[in-house]
Formats: sequence, C-alpha cells, structure tokens
Amino acid sequence: MNLKNKNILITAGPTREAIDPVRFLSNKSSGKMAFALAAECLKHDAKVLLICGPVSIVAPDGVQIINVISANEMLDAVLENISACDVFIAAAAVSDYRVKETFVEKIKKDQNEMTLNFIKNPDILQQVSQLEQRLFCVGFAAETENLEENAQEKLHKKKLDLIVANSVSHNKVFDKNKTQAILFGKNGERIALAEMSKNELAEKIITWIASSLRSSQRR
Ligand code: CTP
Repeated sequence: MNLKNKNILITAGPTREAIDPVRFLSNKSSGKMAFALAAECLKHDAKVLLICGPVSIVAPDGVQIINVISANEMLDAVLENISACDVFIAAAAVSDYRVKETFVEKIKKDQNEMTLNFIKNPDILQQVSQLEQRLFCVGFAAETENLEENAQEKLHKKKLDLIVANSVSHNKVFDKNKTQAILFGKNGERIALAEMSKNELAEKIITWIASSLRSSQRR
C-alpha cells in the first residue's frame, strides 16, 4: 500500500527538562519505535519528518530530522511543521512535567532534603489533534496498569484515529527491540498483536494508516 505524496510527522525519543546546568528530568525512551515507523513510512514512499528528543541511535537515511531537547521545543517544532502534514504520529515519550524554575547555578548538596516544584508540560498530541482536525493522528499509550481502559480513554480524550497500547511494566518495551501491543481504532476496532519486533509492529501500524487513508479517499 502506497503513501506517495503523504507527509508524515513523527515525534521520537524522550524529552529532557533541565533542573540546573548539569541535571535534567527525562525517561527511558530510546526512539527505536519511532525510527522503525520512519523507516516503514519510507518503504511506502512517504516523506518523513522526525522531531526527535535526545537519543543515541541513528535515524534511517532519507528522513528529515529536527533535534530538540525539551517538551516545549518539541511542541514549537511540531507546530511550525504540522500544517504541511497528512499524518501525525506521536511516538515520543514527552516528559509530562518540567521544573517550575530552572536553577541558574548547579544545585549544591548543602541540605539533607530538598523539594522541587514541577508544572505540567503541554500535551503535544492533544494540541495537534484539536488544532488540525483533518490530520490522521496516532498516539501511543504507555501503561503499567489497566492497559486497555487507559488506552481507550486516551484515544477518545485526545480525539485520535488510532492508539497503540503498550504495557511498560517490568521494564518491558523501553530500549527493547521487541514489543507487544494492542491497536485500537476510533471506530471500535481492536487488534491484539503477538509479541514482535518494533520493525514488525511499525509495519502493522503503517499498513493500518495507509488503508485508513485509502478508504477515506474513496468516500
Ligand atoms: N504525548 C504528547 N505530549 C505530552 C504527553 C504525551 O504528545 N505532553 C503523547 C505521547 O507521545 C503518546 C500519547 O500522548 O502518543 C500518550 O502518552 P502517555 O505518556 O501514554 O500518556 P499521557 O497522555 O502523558 O498520560 P499519563 O502520563 O497520565 O498516562
């Protein structure tokens, strides 16, 4: 199935939220799932823009890449580029919070206890799906409990076309090559997949997107 002339924007990797000049808040995302999706999009002749937090893996040849650090930088880069896109895949593990005030100087260990105040980061996927309702929007749900319920709630709350639910308990998924997912579509579709490589999962997701775009063109 072909995605020729389709522009696909994918967010990838973790974000990093500075605490002081040498420390940050982040998470275990490696970017592998997003890069597998980008490679699969290229196989379908799509144009891919990756907006990528700090990762240590190399992006597939042929994708355009914008490197960012924080959630706010990721949001700005997405908003600057989204109007030219047909599909948005939010595969990044965006830090939900950032410290309220970043310390200008390195924090010294002169206190036995310390408290940091955090504030919520923007939800990039939710903003994009509200702003650009013509887009085909795909999200991921990384859950340690109530996988199916939480994923379906995110699908509806964020007004997505497709959500990929992953259990991330017991150190599964993050930085691994294999994964197990359930795909939920906005019309009640549900496909529970066996454990497979991230490349194979990417193929399933992109096939779903391509066939959805094709059937909406026919209508
Ligand atoms: N997402 C995003 N911006 C955020 C948080 C999440 O774009 N600030 C996207 C992720 O890329 C993913 C989806 O939203 O596609 C769900 O992310 P997840 O971390 O599972 O859930 P949250 O919405 O952050 O909710 P919670 O952490 O409460 O489970």
